[in-house]
Amino acid sequence: MYSIVAPELLSLEDVQLLAELSGCPNATKQDTCEQSRHSRYRTISGVCNNRLNPRWGAANTALVRWLPAEYEDGEGEPKGWNPDRLHHGFQLPPPRKVSREIIRSSCKWKDDDYSQLLVDWGQYIDHDITFTPQSISKSAFWTDTDCYQTCDNVHPCFPIKTDDSLCMPFHRSTADCYVSPGSDVQHALQRQQLNAITSYIDASLVYGHTPKLESFLRDLSGLSGKLAVNDQFKDAKGRPYLPFVAKTPSACRTFQQDDGIDCFSAGDGRVNEGLPLISLHTLWLREHNRIAEALKLINDHWSPEMIYQETRQIIGALHQIITMRDYVPKIIGPESFERFVGPYTGYDPAVDPSASNVFATAAFRFGHATISPVLHRLNQSFQEHEQFPHLRLYKTFFSPWRIVKEGGIEPIIRGLIGIAAPAASANKLLVEEVTEMLAVLDTLQHMDLASLNLQRGRDHGLPGYNEWREFCGLARIDTLENLKVVLQDGRVAEKILNMYKHLDNIDVWLGGLVENYLPDARTGPLFACLIGKQMKALRDGDRFWWEADGVFKQEQKDELLKGSLSRVICDNTDIQEVPFDSFRFGKFPNEYVSCASIPSINLEAWREEKSKDYDLCGSPTRIHNGDYIFTFNAQKVTALYSCYHGFMLEGAAEITCEKNEWHPEAPKCIGKRMCAHTAPPLSTAAWVLLLSLMHACTHPTTYTSPFQNSGCRRSRLQCLLKMRRLLLCWLLCENKFNNAKRDPLFTTLLLTSIVNVSYFRKQRLKSFTVEYSSAHAGQFWVILRLHRRSQKLAFNWKCERSSKKSDFFFFKKSELSITPCSVNVA
Ligand code: HEM
Repeated sequence: MYSIVAPELLSLEDVQLLAELSGCPNATKQDTCEQSRHSRYRTISGVCNNRLNPRWGAANTALVRWLPAEYEDGEGEPKGWNPDRLHHGFQLPPPRKVSREIIRSSCKWKDDDYSQLLVDWGQYIDHDITFTPQSISKSAFWTDTDCYQTCDNVHPCFPIKTDDSLCMPFHRSTADCYVSPGSDVQHALQRQQLNAITSYIDASLVYGHTPKLESFLRDLSGLSGKLAVNDQFKDAKGRPYLPFVAKTPSACRTFQQDDGIDCFSAGDGRVNEGLPLISLHTLWLREHNRIAEALKLINDHWSPEMIYQETRQIIGALHQIITMRDYVPKIIGPESFERFVGPYTGYDPAVDPSASNVFATAAFRFGHATISPVLHRLNQSFQEHEQFPHLRLYKTFFSPWRIVKEGGIEPIIRGLIGIAAPAASANKLLVEEVTEMLAVLDTLQHMDLASLNLQRGRDHGLPGYNEWREFCGLARIDTLENLKVVLQDGRVAEKILNMYKHLDNIDVWLGGLVENYLPDARTGPLFACLIGKQMKALRDGDRFWWEADGVFKQEQKDELLKGSLSRVICDNTDIQEVPFDSFRFGKFPNEYVSCASIPSINLEAWREEKSKDYDLCGSPTRIHNGDYIFTFNAQKVTALYSCYHGFMLEGAAEITCEKNEWHPEAPKCIGKRMCAHTAPPLSTAAWVLLLSLMHACTHPTTYTSPFQNSGCRRSRLQCLLKMRRLLLCWLLCENKFNNAKRDPLFTTLLLTSIVNVSYFRKQRLKSFTVEYSSAHAGQFWVILRLHRRSQKLAFNWKCERSSKKSDFFFFKKSELSITPCSVNVA
């Protein structure tokens, strides 16, 4: 019935095969980018922005490392995982202790130069650039330990110890499954974290980063190229709100007060975290629909798809302009801007625009030190709103109901532009509202943002503060005196050294945060360097950067430069008096101007004369579940068709006007059958192999620290490491498909074919339970938990085992009959 092989070491080919089978094929699969298709507009996932390296900057790729990770075991165990492990002779201080004794602050000074909007734009734009997903497995894989309950470090739980010997739950970030062929073992197998969204500043937080999400967010029935809006509520003037999430009742209902208002949905799932975030998302939803409507009037021959894409391109450009022109120089200061970003010199395909791990996990979290403990809500005179007064921050988490029932977004937006930002200083970092009362969905307990940041940095194995200073060409800090100079605060410097004991142990987020600001900046030299480098990469490595050749015409660029956040506020809210630059704090009414004097973009620059072909052939045929855009090919106008998510193109994708008719016939979009692919991505054979290997690999008695052993042990460890990569690969895929439908029928089919196999009996398996199953886009997933009859381990790794031939059982795919094609889960 089955054949047995006993590969102690899986070859790279094996690893690639398993990566391929497990549906995580980045290791082996080269994406190809069709010329025409990906030339006019960005893809929604960011793939093919760079034609030679299609996955650069794309969603669900690893955060890049600017310095190698420093894991405790060299492979993937976080810093601080093993309590006995010393770093430069000392234990790392517990994050919660650092938070309480160094970071926590009960009050804040004001920053009279900038408005609260500067802070909230930081969070908003971060959600366009990075989202590091956490393991969606909320319990340890083999031991069943619940991450919400445990104080032990068991993957994926890495709890934050608190003073009262309790813990705050912490889930490790999901690992990427990329195994880079050719690189050295240590590098190839090191745990990397993911960026689940596109790193490009492309307004992915408005449009989403997957075709499925994009479809959900669009108004595909209206034929207007608009985004979908809330169909239950509008504001008092009839302006739309974001649509609710698809799955209701949602967590926002019960979170604060059940007022029957669900979570809003947007291109980024974190939209409901706070009211400023919801308000900014709402602004851009409205702005999209306003521009789409105007473009339709100007170009009535444009298809809905074309209106949508052109509008999306304009909105993306505005996000880039507001960020790069108005925001970043204020944060890193004009000198650092000049030094690290500099003037634009065109698209550079050699630049990798992926977000870096240190940017997402440390540098751009600088903004946490400027979070205000109070959300201000102002009336038309920019005074505290009589009906809807200011709120303590914790009352604003996940509360979309406050937008719907408490006056819309205007009181909040007025609070953003009309109140000065909080100032951060080394002795006043994060407010108690977020160190003691932070709310995180799915967690009842109050969380501490400072501890999360520190623990996250350790989870990702980020090198310490001094390593990063060196990376940026700054002097290492090797004495307390030097630290005092960099901080300009002797007391805090002493506290830090007392706590960390060794200057090389200082966590990079903390070190960067406490540095004294550069002139006219809101960051010190380290974060200015790291943020500056990241921004330059996001700009120069983006083929669709708004200034890049061929993206916009010169007259359109001139118009786009007139755009501003103040204008977007004027056009989409009731607010009719604003500061000229709404990131700057000005007093109302003297330092405000009427919206009439804020420049606006003239969309006439987008007027496109109908081509002769259009007159000759009329408009191309409209199709169901898909649409066309016009492209220009060898002087001819081509209608290029594509289908919406869930549909497949049948027929020619491109048609041209010849002899007064479009040729060939327009294609059709047909429903994708899930059985287009006959085999599940992870063959039964492969995952049976994986399950058994993983069990062996993760058993504590067989696992020792890697890279320092040799001979048999060393090779064994390499195998273990490879297996762990594949386990991580699973977790990645779990995350990838977490919205997929469960499919019990398929599961049953699959399991029936497996239980018959005597392998399971041989392994003393008592039973198995289905951990997870899903079917999505033609791929099927099942993760089983195997229950053994006794604790006796089937796999005991021993040095002499190379002579033993029965450690692994490998079933040939052909010997197990699985027929998932009888299942339709479309
Ligand atoms: C009320 C305001 C804010 C709250 C409640 C908040 C909360 C959070 C939370 C809970 C996380 C995840 C922490 C973890 O588990 O690792 C996070 C991540 C992050 N935050 Fe904030 N934040 C706020 C404002 C800001 C601001 C103003 C900025 C920047 C200017 C910012 C930048 C970031 C970044 C870069 C991340 C990492 C994102 C990722 O890659 O997943 N946040 N924030």
